[in-house]
Amino acid sequence: METQICQVDAKYPQPELIAQAAQIIRGGGLVAFPTETVYGLGGNALAESASAKIYAAKGRPSDNPLIVHIADLETLPLVAARISEKASRLMDAFWPGPLTLIFEKTPAVPYTTTGGLDTVAVRMPAHEAALQLIRAAGVPVAAPSANASGRPSPTCAAHVATDLSGRIDLLLDGGSADIGVESTIVDMTVEPPMILRPGYITEEMLREIIGAVSVDPAIQGESTLRPKAPGMRYRHYAPKAPLTIVEEERASAHDAEGNAAVMKICALAAELGTDKRIGIIGTDESLAYYRAYGAPEQEAGWIVKSVGSRSDEAGIARNLYRVLREFDEETVDVIFSESFARDHLGQAIMNRLSKAAGQHVIKV
Ligand code: TXA
Ligand code: MG
Repeated sequence: METQICQVDAKYPQPELIAQAAQIIRGGGLVAFPTETVYGLGGNALAESASAKIYAAKGRPSDNPLIVHIADLETLPLVAARISEKASRLMDAFWPGPLTLIFEKTPAVPYTTTGGLDTVAVRMPAHEAALQLIRAAGVPVAAPSANASGRPSPTCAAHVATDLSGRIDLLLDGGSADIGVESTIVDMTVEPPMILRPGYITEEMLREIIGAVSVDPAIQGESTLRPKAPGMRYRHYAPKAPLTIVEEERASAHDAEGNAAVMKICALAAELGTDKRIGIIGTDESLAYYRAYGAPEQEAGWIVKSVGSRSDEAGIARNLYRVLREFDEETVDVIFSESFARDHLGQAIMNRLSKAAGQHVIKV
């Protein structure tokens, strides 16, 4: 199959392009499209054959359920049952936006879409091209992140093309994703509602709207419990080179000056000697330190990349997957990463980074 790639205007999507993409989805095909979080791989959520195609294109285990994307609230009762008052408040506050809610599913949603579960994950993305595509398709759109299973989620069309070219009908290129990490997932079938995957909508933001929320204990710290969201159970993404996070235990994680973690990374890298190629995930604030401390070694192979500025957590979220993908392209032997505060958006950043590191964290 040849994958057609078309540029879509993210604000004013071209109607004829949207119509073509919608036609593909209605006809049972697959279209990758931009959302505000990451690119999605879309197919008709109500057709068993479409979800089967999605799993095949991604090489994804078929017990890992897909998120159903809708463009208006009127469609919600078609796919979800028992919509609570708290859920309505969250939808009022955050939809369209990077929040996925889990409900009891209706019979209209096939078990292939929900990975055999009686619940369904639903989200209304805050992206004009995505919303118009879903509306034009006239059906809810099942869309996991548009990466090959085991790779970081795609934050631009080039990432999607690398992973899925030749496996999908159409790729709508709408530029870089604004947020860069996947939506927050909240299970509304339990009381209090439970965060199954942290994301841009933080625990604090949810609490402001509905009061108590819990967090799946399995996704906190270095837990060995079994996460409730099937997708969180997989070692989502393992970089080709082993990744170690160096975390400072003192509360100075926001402060680059005299950062003990940076010094520790320099020491660890220096210990490995000059015949290893060493990848370092740093920040705008620390790049100069690595240059200063690593100067002689750098020639021999320190590759230091900034994931953004510590003063801009959203920027770090936006860059994280791109930087991880870049290190897969460089042939580094090991990767060290600085760590970030685990509150607010940092909860999502550290969740994804720790998973990539297989929970391998050194504390200093
Ligand atoms: O931001 C996002 O959510 C992106 C964009 C494309 O919308 N989508 C996304 O989908 O990240 P995916 O398939 O990569 O991740 C979906 C996650 C998986 O961890 C899956 O196990 C979980 O949602 N999930 C889906 N349905 C569920 C359900 N009924 N119960 C528990 N977890 C569910
Ligand atoms: Mg994914």
